[in-house]
Amino acid sequence: MLRQLADDVWVAERPLKFLGLPVGARMTVIRLDDGRLLLHSPLPLDDAMRAELDALGPVAYAVAPNRLHHLFAGDVAKAYPEARLWLAPGLPEKRPDLVHEGVLDDEAPPEWRGQLEQVFFRGRPFENEVAFFHPASRTLVVCDLAFNFGPRDPLPTRVVMSLIRSYGKLGPTKLDPLLIRDRALARASLERILAWDFDRVIVSHGAVQESGGYPRMRDGYAWLRDDR
Ligand SMILES: [Fe+2]
Repeated sequence: MLRQLADDVWVAERPLKFLGLPVGARMTVIRLDDGRLLLHSPLPLDDAMRAELDALGPVAYAVAPNRLHHLFAGDVAKAYPEARLWLAPGLPEKRPDLVHEGVLDDEAPPEWRGQLEQVFFRGRPFENEVAFFHPASRTLVVCDLAFNFGPRDPLPTRVVMSLIRSYGKLGPTKLDPLLIRDRALARASLERILAWDFDRVIVSHGAVQESGGYPRMRDGYAWLRDDR
């Protein structure tokens, strides 16, 4: 179920519908220097998935990186009681049942500082997403800041994504500007993400962009960068 993309980086996918549309979901697994694992946007952890994770290392951390990507965060504590959960801003209020270690911000906590960097994408409160960067593999990890749907996706998804200009390319959709409530804050967050030297982009919905992700993200968000 887990697919290795680079040293210490794996992903797993499963079908998932959002508003009735099959968009799929992806979990990213990062192995830290001490061998412990961080689960980004966790998927359900059934026996098979746990066995694969256990073969990689102990699951120590999980992050629910935006206000919408929390559905299976509770599974982590059940499967790995010793794991510590970190939540996107606003999630503790939305999911008070989730026992968590802390709220994600621009500063990586000591647990993974220096190995993973993060930016709280401000001004977009619908998601309150925190983007991650794994410098060792030049990988940007996001959930909903970009999609990457293509010919392998189900027909309804292809149709809808074509309508919102999000088909066959990595990047934000035509609807993304509507989600932004404070453009100055959003632009500043975007600039911090674009200061990262990434090449691969892992999205939650659609395909992983194995290379060339940087110019696609930069150009996809030109409407926000140019709005000065
Ligand atoms: Fe999502």
